[in-house]
Amino acid sequence: MKIIQDTLINWYAENHRDLPWRHHPTPYQVWISEVILQQTRVNQGYDYYLRFTERWPTVADLANATEEEVLKMWQGLGYYSRARNLHQCAQQVVEEYGGEFPADFDKLLKLKGIGNYTAAAISSFVFNLPYAVVDGNVYRVLSRLFDIETPININEGQTLFAHLADELLNREQPGLHNQAMMEFGALQCTPKNPNCLLCPLQSHCLAFTHQTVMQRPIKLQKTKVSTRYLNYLVIRINEQIYLHKRSDNDIWRNLYDFPCIESQEPMCVEQVIQSEGFRQFIGDKPFTIIRISPTFTHKLTHRTLIAQFIEIKLEEELLRIETKGVFLTHESDLGNYPIPRLIDLYLNT
Ligand code: ADE
Ligand code: SF4
Repeated sequence: MKIIQDTLINWYAENHRDLPWRHHPTPYQVWISEVILQQTRVNQGYDYYLRFTERWPTVADLANATEEEVLKMWQGLGYYSRARNLHQCAQQVVEEYGGEFPADFDKLLKLKGIGNYTAAAISSFVFNLPYAVVDGNVYRVLSRLFDIETPININEGQTLFAHLADELLNREQPGLHNQAMMEFGALQCTPKNPNCLLCPLQSHCLAFTHQTVMQRPIKLQKTKVSTRYLNYLVIRINEQIYLHKRSDNDIWRNLYDFPCIESQEPMCVEQVIQSEGFRQFIGDKPFTIIRISPTFTHKLTHRTLIAQFIEIKLEEELLRIETKGVFLTHESDLGNYPIPRLIDLYLNT
């Protein structure tokens, strides 16, 4: 173990990227960067990180933002509950700890949205406490080094990998060790093209010896994803457009999209127009169909969304809007609302 630890730290000294949250990081910086990096790669995450920390340099600043501002800033990263948790966690740190993250793994773990991964990252990177970080990079590196066949996404695997990561942890420099493990996974022992031929750990790597590198880690096939069809009504009247604020316990809570007729099967435009939802919404007002978009396919973790956008022109405003969350706004204000990536894609084509 010692030789693997030393090799990793030496490799890191030579090869790591110079990233802003690595210079004498504060808990706030580590927290923001790691939450962002759970959603995206470093290249893209970098810009989000700079924008977040410039707009809200401290936990208290973030706590004082509105949830809508935070969602807007998060736009494009997906999985918006992370952004809501970020905001609530900031408020919790201000209320319970006067704006300073506690230097205590168990207390960190109790904060909104902070799990083992983020608590270990803050504890070790900032406070140099001996907690091993286990993220996708670490799963991959460990599963290859020790040629482990246990799937990473079952309980037994999670326990096993947490245990292994802890055994391999360098207790003198846990922060540096964790960074090195992750960076090694991100740059050297990559998912598709690991650089095994020029790898300082090659002679210690069981998967390399057994020629199973590309079969590691093993992930159990999840149940099949369901498909939802979103038939969006993009209704304009003069310079205004109908928006819909999502509120139910469903995808994209508190983000904005358009009024939508949803179905489990594809619907053609005639079916949409004749649907109960459409009639409830438009009633007997005169309308013209301007354009029908091509379909957009958008994959979320547990479902596939297939969307089409039916652009409609209304001659007169709807008197009463029965559909919850729907309201009329100026088209020029559209940019102020946090919207899902799918809607953003549509608006930009
Ligand atoms: N991915 C997520 N966090 C990371 C980190 N701290 N270093 C490298 N890659 C990462
Ligand atoms: Fe990863 Fe290949 Fe190095 Fe093994 S030899 S640690 S699989 S890069």
